[in-house]
Amino acid sequence: MAGLVRVNGRVVRELGTSVVPEDVVEFGGRIVAPALESAYIVMNKPLGVVTTMRDPEGRRTIADVLKARDYQRRIVPVGRLDYDTAGVLLLTDDGALAHVLTHPRFGVEKTYRAMLRGRLTSAQVAEMQRGMKLDDGPAEPAQLRVVAARRDASSVDVTIHEGRNRQVRRMFEELGHPVIGLTRLRFGPIGLGTLGPGEIRDATSREVSALRVLADAAKAGDDEDGE
Ligand code: URA
Repeated sequence: MAGLVRVNGRVVRELGTSVVPEDVVEFGGRIVAPALESAYIVMNKPLGVVTTMRDPEGRRTIADVLKARDYQRRIVPVGRLDYDTAGVLLLTDDGALAHVLTHPRFGVEKTYRAMLRGRLTSAQVAEMQRGMKLDDGPAEPAQLRVVAARRDASSVDVTIHEGRNRQVRRMFEELGHPVIGLTRLRFGPIGLGTLGPGEIRDATSREVSALRVLADAAKAGDDEDGE
């Protein structure tokens, strides 16, 4: 080796020399910065917040919610929730992962708890499970779990893969049961747990691994389709 590599000022010639984050590593006289690990943040997006970092209309944004923490890198939301929807929102600076997970083709499974006006009939439940018609094309079959049903209001958990604009609201609206409250309980492997509105936490390493498995599976499927 030509003596180009220095650790803490001393030339290192042994291959496989390990360093710790505090060590200063130079290559050809330039300091080599260690690659930063990506950030994966889980937010319980509160109601009344737009899923953008800036809002020309001056509404509260997810950047305002994140302000509690000092993020130096460019964090982007993975998909979006409506202004009037609360719940799990993943944010990351891992652009490649965000791209795959938001691409409509790779529909990540998402579960929402919807509070509806009225009570669904079994025929309406079956219609959603079969895949109902919407004005921008048929929706894929949804999974449904009725949590509570009264004559005037119901609580229903609905799981979908797609992420069309206001999809959950439009599905129930179409059946004559307007949504009066919507919370995302799960985004792929990430659940809401005990995170309160406006609270944020780092995704666990298990969650990040599960997200990467999802993204790799999506990419592998894409490569096969492309052959
Ligand atoms: N479906 C909706 O209607 N709104 C959301 O925010 C997410 C899914």
